[in-house]
Amino acid sequence: MPRPTRDLLALRGMGTAELKELLARSRAMIPAAMGRTDLSHILKGRAVGLLFFEDSTRTRLSFTMAAQRLGATTLDLASGGSSVSKGETLIDTALNVEAIGAAALVVRAKQSGAAHQIAQPAKIPVLNGGDGKHEHPTQALLDALTIAESLGRSAAFDLTGLSIAIVGDVISSRVARSNIAALSALGAQVIVVGPPTLAPKSMSTLGCKVEHDLDNVLPTVDAVMMLRVQFERHGGEGSSGASGGASHAAAPAKPPITPSSIVSVRAYREGYALTSARAAMLKPHAVVLHPGPINRGIEMDQDVADGPRSAVLRQVTHGVAVRMASLCWCLGIPA
Ligand code: NCD
Repeated sequence: MPRPTRDLLALRGMGTAELKELLARSRAMIPAAMGRTDLSHILKGRAVGLLFFEDSTRTRLSFTMAAQRLGATTLDLASGGSSVSKGETLIDTALNVEAIGAAALVVRAKQSGAAHQIAQPAKIPVLNGGDGKHEHPTQALLDALTIAESLGRSAAFDLTGLSIAIVGDVISSRVARSNIAALSALGAQVIVVGPPTLAPKSMSTLGCKVEHDLDNVLPTVDAVMMLRVQFERHGGEGSSGASGGASHAAAPAKPPITPSSIVSVRAYREGYALTSARAAMLKPHAVVLHPGPINRGIEMDQDVADGPRSAVLRQVTHGVAVRMASLCWCLGIPA
């Protein structure tokens, strides 16, 4: 029997109308996210389970704040501090948090497909807080909200005619996959840019253009999203696709961190870092985004990250609004 509530697992396949509804609901949440209006009656007495099997700063704290702004408490499972380290599976852990009384679960895991697999047996909504190299839907929603707001498109979230570059380690990035799906559904042209090892031509099957020369692309785009080189995802963990093996899998061992897919950090910087000189090639109105964590001096210069084009901290503030809206949407609370 279908559940009266919804999961938020991926943006690929979500209809444009639903995407726009989620964005409109997120926009409406911004004052409450910033503490200017009080919506703490909405989830009063309920609990949100935060199952972060992988490290996180922004997503975890943002979901915590979102739950609290709506009046909910959080059941907070710290990575490394749970019985997963004793061999309990992710699914068993999730079902126990549900049995304790959570009204919704937020799942972050190294395994692609983990949130989907937990959502199968769960009777409460599951929100994907990032699964391996697969998707990170709330991150892409906050990116789309920030781009739309910065470029005057937040009335209807129609991004037709805009070009948006996603630069760097695209192949390892769940943020990129969710953004390609969402931004193209909203009408934008997405161009992924990186060395062939990190932005292979085959990514065009996702509906984006693929380019390898950043200097050619920068003057043509309205927004540029820089990605971290995700060394920890180069070791084969959380490989793309929905078969990452979350099914009753215990926490995996850490893969070695080596610059395996880039020749050298210096060569990478020369080709793909958003330096001050490169930022000067952008159109005057173009905006710069980064999902964080930023490795300053590798993919982005200090002056750009903190400069006038940077939307990085606005992204983070919007994240709270998006997660408030997403929790309400999943729990069937009317707008
Ligand atoms: C990203 C993630 O974890 O996928 N960060 C985030 O959630 N804001 C990007 C990254 O790890 O580089």
